[in-house]
Amino acid sequence: MERTFTALKPDAVKRGLIAKIIERIENKGYKIIGMKMMNVPLELAEKHYAEHFGKPFYNSLIEYITSGPVVAMVLEGDNVILGLRHIVGKTNPDEADVGTIRGDFCTTKEYNSIHASDSIESAEREINLWFKKEELCDNYKTSLEILMGK
Ligand code: PPS
Repeated sequence: MERTFTALKPDAVKRGLIAKIIERIENKGYKIIGMKMMNVPLELAEKHYAEHFGKPFYNSLIEYITSGPVVAMVLEGDNVILGLRHIVGKTNPDEADVGTIRGDFCTTKEYNSIHASDSIESAEREINLWFKKEELCDNYKTSLEILMGK
């Protein structure tokens, strides 16, 4: 069972899209094992986006992610890292397929509503960065897990 990190970005929160986006995640069958709404401290934002330091959009990226609350989550499921990236769609909403979150809800690369880890290494790093072990609630089964005998 794989885990990934995802965050609903400030534009999604401000536009009232939290429930709509989480519905897609739950409908797919992914299990939410960690979730919190929070204002992102500057230090956390800088660590999270460290790989983009020095790029032309870095400063606006940091400014944006710290501009309002986000909803951070840890998800669990079979191949959830790749699967969630499919649900999320391409970074540039102009190229994201209709039916994906970014394809349906977003128009700009900057305000693209949701972040999702792009690899096993990033997922592990980001989960540990955003969540303490004791904040993860994996002591319940979803109906899908029960159906699959897991
Ligand atoms: S790159 O250049 O390929 O490494 O970047 P990319 O993977 O396309 O995007 C990385 C994250 O930066 C955000 N982004 C931007 N923010 C502000 N302004 C501009 N112009 C911009 N371009 C990209 C993009 O939404 C990605 O955020 P995350 O949270 O990782 O999806």
